[in-house]
Amino acid sequence: MENELRYDFDKMTDRKGTYSIKWRVGENELPMWIADMDFETAPEIVVALEKRVAGRIFGYSDIPDEWYEAYIGWWKRRHGVEIKKEWLIYSAGVIPTISSTVRKLSAPAEKVVILTPVYNMFYNCILNNGRTVVESKLIYKDGSYSIDYEDLEEKLADPQTALMVFCNPHNPVGRIWSKEELTKVGELCIEHDVRLIVDEIHCDLTDPDKEYVPFAALEDKITDNAIIAIAPTKTFNIAGLQTSAVIVKDRALRHKVWRQINTDEVGEPNAFAIDVVLAAFNEGENWLDELRTYIYNNKCLVEGYIKENIKEISLVPSEATYLLWLDCGKLTNNSKELMKHIRKETGLYLSAGTHYGSGGESFLRLNIACPKERLMDGLARLEKGIHSYKGE
Ligand SMILES: Cc1ncc(COP(=O)(O)O)c(C=O)c1O
Repeated sequence: MENELRYDFDKMTDRKGTYSIKWRVGENELPMWIADMDFETAPEIVVALEKRVAGRIFGYSDIPDEWYEAYIGWWKRRHGVEIKKEWLIYSAGVIPTISSTVRKLSAPAEKVVILTPVYNMFYNCILNNGRTVVESKLIYKDGSYSIDYEDLEEKLADPQTALMVFCNPHNPVGRIWSKEELTKVGELCIEHDVRLIVDEIHCDLTDPDKEYVPFAALEDKITDNAIIAIAPTKTFNIAGLQTSAVIVKDRALRHKVWRQINTDEVGEPNAFAIDVVLAAFNEGENWLDELRTYIYNNKCLVEGYIKENIKEISLVPSEATYLLWLDCGKLTNNSKELMKHIRKETGLYLSAGTHYGSGGESFLRLNIACPKERLMDGLARLEKGIHSYKGE
């Protein structure tokens, strides 16, 4: 049968006792915060790992040609963009890449611009390296987000600004940036001599009929200024295996990024890092397409449930990621307090919008990458938590 599902995303997995950060919670708590999924990874990846384990030796690994071919093949087939082998650098993770690049391409105390609200670790990569965070707040109007170019340009034009870190698609607001938006940001960075780091870790997790625009597909003059971080880890729920890549087209820039990744000793693969990339990108397409449909259906469930039962909040429409952004502006501008209340009253553990910087004060982030049965439990708890917050 053509439409028969091959993979079981309904399976109620149990992650307790696996040292999962997400599931480090109390007895009756339900974690729907940090960005990993409660689904088992693609069976094709598990087979590759089992083969590796069967070899019983876990010495140092090299980066074979097949690793480059797997990335190149995936971006060509899935995203219609040609990546050249020499543009690719191995890195243990997207955050290590961003942190190393910040250190190499800016001086202490110099400024790094981000569009907020945004993934909290961007702040860590900047602040932990002794650089200064400059927030350019996204415009939130009629339930949708856009870039405030006037504000962004003012901040990029500051002579102390050396870098910008950009999330494409955007966590947590779920926007897929258009070609025009990416081009405009890229042009502004060039105009003001600011290097651009583009984090594309969520790029494969778009709604079934939606496609992201790879930054690497833009004009050469724009992409030559960019450091693009990509990975199969978020897509295939293998983030704990720490494997990623960086695309840098410009030779001199690539040399710098490569050197820093090496200096920071995050440029060598662990014993599983290559196998999982080959299995994911060469054999994981069907699994991913079914996953995207499952997540989309979960999103529709959340949308319907909130409209029907939790009218005090609303779901911000999104096109990508499994992280939903809930507007609680009618209730609070202290989402940390709201998050704590919901956790205390119902055990549901969400991320507070305050975590993502300015613009997140009245939002909660909900991770819906879990079996439907668990999602429904989460929604019932959310309803109870929101209603009790209002003293009902
Ligand atoms: C936007 C974004 N970048 C990077 C990461 C983490 O990347 P890594 O585990 O490769 O360091 C996450 C994880 O949630 C993320 O949302």
